[in-house]
This record gives sequence, C-alpha cells and structure tokens, in this order.
Amino acid sequence: MRVAVIGANGGIGRELVSRLADAGHDPIGIVRDESQFDAVRDRGGEPRLGDLEGEFAPALEGADAAVFTAGSGGDTGWEKTLLIDLWGARRCVDACAEYGVDRFVAISAYNASEPLSEPESLRPYWVAKRCADDYLERSSLDATILRPTRLTDDEATGRVSARFEFRDEGGDAIPRADVAQAVVACLENDGTIGETIRLFGGDTPIENAIRPDG
Ligand SMILES: NC(=O)c1ccc[n+]([C@@H]2O[C@H](COP(=O)([O-])OP(=O)(O)OC[C@H]3O[C@@H](n4cnc5c(N)ncnc54)[C@H](OP(=O)(O)O)[C@@H]3O)[C@@H](O)[C@H]2O)c1
Repeated sequence: MRVAVIGANGGIGRELVSRLADAGHDPIGIVRDESQFDAVRDRGGEPRLGDLEGEFAPALEGADAAVFTAGSGGDTGWEKTLLIDLWGARRCVDACAEYGVDRFVAISAYNASEPLSEPESLRPYWVAKRCADDYLERSSLDATILRPTRLTDDEATGRVSARFEFRDEGGDAIPRADVAQAVVACLENDGTIGETIRLFGGDTPIENAIRPDG
C-alpha cells in the first residue's frame, strides 16, 4: 500500500515511515522542508514537500492511504493549534477526497473524547483534535481514529492497551514507536475502519489489541 505520512519528520512520523517500509508498504514521507528529505529516504520513504499552512494537496498524488501525525507541538501558541491541529487536519481530509485517497488514519489525542478534561490548559488542543476528528468522521473516507494518551520516546514494546468504549479511565503513557506500529496494524486490518480507538501502554500484542472483535 502507498501510504502518505503527514508529519513524517515528527516523532511518530519517523517511526511510522520505517515501520511501513519494513512491513512491505511504500511510504511517502510528507515534510515541510527539503532538508528533511534525506532522513525520509534513509527510513525507506519517498520524500515530498507539503505545508499544512500552504501548498499541500499535490503531495498526496498516487497514495492509497494517508496518516495524519502532524502537530503544532507544545511550544507554539493556540494560533498554531488552530492552523495545524484543526485546520491542517481538515485540509488533509479534503485533499484526500480530492485526490481519491480513500483510507485515512488520524492520530488524535486521548482527551479529544472529553475536551473539558483536566488540565484546563490543554482544553483548546483537545477541542481542536475533536473538531478535526468529527470532520473526518463525517467525511466519505474510510477512517480510523487513534487517540493515544501521553507519548514517550521509550523503546517500542510491541504491546498496547486499546479501548473502544468512550467512558473508561486513563492508562499508562505509550511509546511513539508503539503508536506507529498500531497505525501499521490498522492499515492492515479493515475491521478498524469506522472505529475510534484509545491507546495506552499495555500488555496486549498490538495486532490483537486494535481488533474491534478482539
Ligand atoms: N505529545 C503527546 O503526548 C501527544 C499525545 C497524544 C497525541 N499526540 C498527537 O500525536 C501526533 C504526533 O505527535 P508527535 O509528538 O510524534 O509529533 P511531533 O514530533 O511534534 O511532530 C509533528 C510534526 O508535524 C509537522 N508539522 C508541523 N507543522 C506543519 C505544517 N505546517 N506542515 C507540515 N507539517 C507540519 C512537524 O514538522 P517539522 O519537523 O518541520 O517541525 C513535525 O514533524 C500529533 O498529531 C500530536 O498532536 C501527541
């Protein structure tokens, strides 16, 4: 599968490009700076330029699926939360519809299901993620939404805890590498289409954890 990774230079994005290539897929790494091209190639991806605040949609040409794992990051202001996490994500959905990219996996965030959760300082971010998720759910795309909890740069474990219900409590932080592997598992399991899955660190092998019937 040709998978466009939006945010390919990010923490999850880097892991994901490598894991897609290792799994026999053809990753396209979309980045916003040509200086990042070599790093995408080194991970087995085809680099392309795409800026969520500028020219973006043509970078999806020829892709079968897209993964949104870009983000404004914790060091920018709320204006970037609006422009990247909300509007940028919506632009990706529209661009996929325009370019015939039917399959979409979004990296959302745990509390997007309850944006008025604590801490109060993160509420605007969760609102942005939730509104982007709602837009994706209403689109024509075959979507899977992953809502990981706090991310770490710990080593991959190959195991997670996944929750399909909306009213459960939090869990352990999760390595970015395990979220990346969960994306690969979702792309390879059409049973996850239409699902919103909360992800935590855990003990269940990833391929089993993301199965709705598992
Ligand atoms: N941090 C957490 O604990 C947490 C928890 C749950 C969910 N998430 C979500 O998980 C996802 C991945 O997180 P992460 O920490 O792995 O991400 P990250 O390392 O912060 O990477 C984000 C990527 O987005 C790219 N980006 C930013 N603005 C862009 C633009 N205008 N056009 C194109 N690309 C742009 C950045 O590009 P540059 O490399 O050029 O800066 C960067 O590579 C994000 O959607 C985040 O919101 C994070």
